[in-house]
Amino acid sequence: MEIIQHADFLTKKVRSYRDMGRAIGFVPTMGALHRGHISLMDICKAQNDVSVVSIFVNPTQFNDPADLNNYPRNLNQDLDLLRKAACDLVFCPDEKEIYPVPDTRQFDFGGLDKVMEGLHRPGHFNGVAQVVTRLLDIVNPHRIYLGLKDFQQVAIIRKVVDDYHYPVEIVTCTTVRENDGLAFSSRNVLLSPGQRLSATIISRTLFQAREMIKTHTADAIREFVINRINSNPHLKVDYFDIVDDKTLQPVNDLSQEGRKIGCIAVRVGMIRLIDNVYFSL
Ligand code: PAJ
Repeated sequence: MEIIQHADFLTKKVRSYRDMGRAIGFVPTMGALHRGHISLMDICKAQNDVSVVSIFVNPTQFNDPADLNNYPRNLNQDLDLLRKAACDLVFCPDEKEIYPVPDTRQFDFGGLDKVMEGLHRPGHFNGVAQVVTRLLDIVNPHRIYLGLKDFQQVAIIRKVVDDYHYPVEIVTCTTVRENDGLAFSSRNVLLSPGQRLSATIISRTLFQAREMIKTHTADAIREFVINRINSNPHLKVDYFDIVDDKTLQPVNDLSQEGRKIGCIAVRVGMIRLIDNVYFSL
């Protein structure tokens, strides 16, 4: 496994593999790797000749300075995990490599950023688009691997890839969960034991809500989810919405066509967790 810090070097390296006809798969991450990240890496590995993983805690996507400051960083452990997963190239740039000059680009997401995470974290998706386009320019992979846990992020990146004609295939991967149902997240390590236990209520409630789709209205499901989660003293719902998986607009009539997905953000003390489940196929 080769560890690369410089963008130009990585670009040249990947280009030489492309010239040899090798398929390049890319998994962007912010490190503090867990089994969710490794599952993306495993799928990437199975579908490509060369796997590239980036580790970069992107400051421009953090709307809360405390969140950026507290974000877990553990490069040595990450590198061990990637070595075990037989990753080929790891890109660990410092900020100057990604942003030699401040990135002032403003992206238009056609309204996809006006709901859920976009609404609650102003500027977040603009920062995601800045770093992902920059990483795509540097790596130039055939395929990029993204987790559906960050469902709205996938929709945003899809839009940017389409709008800017990036010649890359987006491969989405299902959410990997702990045995008790909690979705793996880098932020889980920041939870106290009591908070960690309470956090299991989030996915359990989402799975219960999914069972209600045939018998309850969207409003009733929303009320159930919010009340159930907020009744735990550690938890406070930021939002819960059942949305159309293409438009990301809230669905009020559950019999309407299209796949629906229940998306939630919950504050667990100072930590904010997100999760989602498909409500219909
Ligand atoms: P990060 O939170 O490190 O996540 C990197 C990738 O891992 C994302 O595509 C995310 O959806 C996926 N992932 C996270 N938890 C997962 C889980 N439990 N199961 C499956 N996949 C999971 O998302 C980011 O970083 C950043 O916004 C990034 C795209 C790297 C841009 O900075």
